[in-house]
Amino acid sequence: MTDLHTPAPAPDGAVTLAGADPRAAGDAARGAGRSRCPVARTADGSWVLLGHAEVRGAALDDAAFSSAVSAHLQLPNGLDGAEHTRWRALVDRYFTPAEVQRLRGPFEDAARAVVAEHLGRTDAVAELGRRMAVRLMTVWLGWPRELEDELLDWMEQNQAATRSGDPARTRAVAERFDAIIRSVVGPRRAAAERGEAPADPDVTDRLIADDSLGRPLTDEEIVSVLRNWTAGDLGSLARCLGVVVHRIAEDPALQERLRAGVTEAELAGVVDECLRVDDPFVANRRVAARDVTVAGTTIAAGERVLLHWTAANRDAEAFGPDADAFDPSGHAADNLVWGVGRHVCPGRPLATLELCVAVTALLEATGQIRRDEERPAERGEHPVGGWRRLPVLLEPAA
Ligand code: HEM
Repeated sequence: MTDLHTPAPAPDGAVTLAGADPRAAGDAARGAGRSRCPVARTADGSWVLLGHAEVRGAALDDAAFSSAVSAHLQLPNGLDGAEHTRWRALVDRYFTPAEVQRLRGPFEDAARAVVAEHLGRTDAVAELGRRMAVRLMTVWLGWPRELEDELLDWMEQNQAATRSGDPARTRAVAERFDAIIRSVVGPRRAAAERGEAPADPDVTDRLIADDSLGRPLTDEEIVSVLRNWTAGDLGSLARCLGVVVHRIAEDPALQERLRAGVTEAELAGVVDECLRVDDPFVANRRVAARDVTVAGTTIAAGERVLLHWTAANRDAEAFGPDADAFDPSGHAADNLVWGVGRHVCPGRPLATLELCVAVTALLEATGQIRRDEERPAERGEHPVGGWRRLPVLLEPAA
């Protein structure tokens, strides 16, 4: 993606995020107590907000912190103000409680099947997690099963491109994803234009037929909306599942409690707290729409700003001195895993259902979930957090 704003030169004492584990780097850069540093400059000259109050404040102040950070069409992520409100209303209609709950049965079947394919030795992110993310997403969108392997291959390439930091490679991978989306949308669009309405329209069909803006969406708009529902989500969901599985594997008391049975709301609370402690969805970009002062530091109009959710979610000012202390109900109100403000994640109910259904399927099919100590785990690197590889043993239920 090409940024609209040229970064300032790298300042002295800048924090380095690239190549580092975002959780450790975020903690180190933010600090705590008297050495707490909630606003810092990164090596590429942009600002990064690391404190809970600062990240939350910037996300809520969308007049000062614009989301128009990319020259590419990003619906609704890259929009501000009234234009964002219009598109957000369109998007939200696909994530109502009724829409999401309709998916429970199909998701449960799909999750059980994926878990059955991965019993024994597996990688909770690179194998199980990715397959789970792709399977549930294709079920939701009504995409053909044959696309699964292509999407998995794309995830691999996307991860390599992100790690390389090479814009040309990232662009090529983004174009490949758009081509995958177009391969699904094109034939359906053509059928719709021939007046062949599907008997049982899925989410993709409905988006193609969506006229809630008073006109049909263009191909470019449909691709942009679907890209924001899928490209980011696939990787995030696999990483989120990895973080939750890691916690379950390393915390026998929690595993036992979950196996004994908890309500869906309790399970969702546990999932959220696992993600707060180790938030794999690291950061989102903004650009200062005017000069704005944060914690005594002035950010000039046009400068780029990163909202570091992972660091904010471990700030002692919000969560106490032990960021790892596990307290689902006590920490829920301040948890920023899903963002806050006008851009707060619309996919949260869907992602929560996916994660809860996946964890439930894992617990049902196993007697025990353990880390596979014979194979090393690997942490993610900025801009992606959590675990990159997490070998585990899914011991089948007796
Ligand atoms: C898997 C775990 C997920 C996490 C941790 C996550 C997290 C977030 C966060 C923190 C934001 C705020 C971005 C900002 O303020 O700039 C966001 C926005 C967004 N998320 Fe998610 N998300 C997840 C899954 C999903 C899913 C499943 C979907 C849709 C299928 C989705 C669609 C979106 C969209 C479209 C936005 C932009 C909303 C807007 O700009 O109004 N996300 N997400």
